[in-house]
Amino acid sequence: MHAAVVSAFDRPPRYQEFPDPVAQGADEAVVEVVAAGLHPRVRSQADGSHYTSTDELPLIPGIDGVVRGPDGRLRYTILDDTTLGTLAERTILRRGRSIVLPEGVDPVAVAAAMNPAMSSWVALRRRIDFRRGRSVLVLGATGNAGRMAVQVARKLGASRVIGAGRNPAALEALRPLGADEVLTLGRLAEAADVDVVLDYLWGEPAATAMVDMISTRKERSDPVHWIQIGSMAGLTSPVPSAALRAARLQIVGSGIGSVDGREWLEELPQLVDAVTEGEFDVRAKAVPLKDVEQVWAAETDDRIVLLP
Ligand SMILES: NC(=O)c1ccc[n+]([C@@H]2O[C@H](COP(=O)([O-])OP(=O)(O)OC[C@H]3O[C@@H](n4cnc5c(N)ncnc54)[C@H](OP(=O)(O)O)[C@@H]3O)[C@@H](O)[C@H]2O)c1
Repeated sequence: MHAAVVSAFDRPPRYQEFPDPVAQGADEAVVEVVAAGLHPRVRSQADGSHYTSTDELPLIPGIDGVVRGPDGRLRYTILDDTTLGTLAERTILRRGRSIVLPEGVDPVAVAAAMNPAMSSWVALRRRIDFRRGRSVLVLGATGNAGRMAVQVARKLGASRVIGAGRNPAALEALRPLGADEVLTLGRLAEAADVDVVLDYLWGEPAATAMVDMISTRKERSDPVHWIQIGSMAGLTSPVPSAALRAARLQIVGSGIGSVDGREWLEELPQLVDAVTEGEFDVRAKAVPLKDVEQVWAAETDDRIVLLP
């Protein structure tokens, strides 16, 4: 088969021939990949920087996607950690790790939307006791996951959604998606009283935001749940100790490992329904898998979806 193959972590994957995957046992089946998203997590898998990386090469990256199951039906799957990812003509489908998609679904939209949408969906539903009527700040709201987070928070009943980021034009575009307010990073004191922060930035901006918000928060003993989801601005953050003492700040992370695989799968049906019923604005750009090397470093606001 053909696949995007990583042979060295300092080079983009190359489209080349690769041995077909082989199913091991009754719980696995070889399936055709229909569409797979080029998410930041896929890039960090391919350059060896993701925290789940095992340094094993060669590697076919790709963590999820739409596949055609043995019964001919389209399924969305999230793979286990594997070196045989979805940026290939075929991959391994494991029992219990996929859900059947409705007839007539757009596989490109599903492949583009599920990973970014799941980040906030699972964070709000599985990492904290989120109730309707709570207010949510999305820190780093202008990327694919942040834009989805604004829409997901709204769908899950947030009373007030604030989008924050560094890009004023992209922030304005969040209003039609459900953001009540948009703030550049220097103005986060104005969001001091939110109940939940969905943080896609981490790094220095998160630490500065915590100080700005906590020092101006009116009811400091009211909990503020800070959910660490992405690290676009830095893998580490210089969080001052006082931030944790001066207010009821509760920092948790949401991602692979902090939520059980079974729980991720339990959340998929509702989210797939929302995506396939067009409830979210999805930005997707379909590209043939053979062009993977050319688009690897492309700067685009759309989520690239590779089609084998
Ligand atoms: N834990 C999970 O479950 C999970 C799931 C999906 C994604 N994630 C993580 O979430 C993060 C975002 O993913 P994504 O799919 O939204 O990526 P994306 O579509 O590439 O968007 C990332 C956005 O971050 C903004 N950005 C980058 N550096 C920044 C900085 N220094 N300060 C402020 N904004 C900055 C950029 O927006 P502007 O250019 O407009 O500023 C960029 O568009 C990644 O770290 C990803 O790994 C986590």
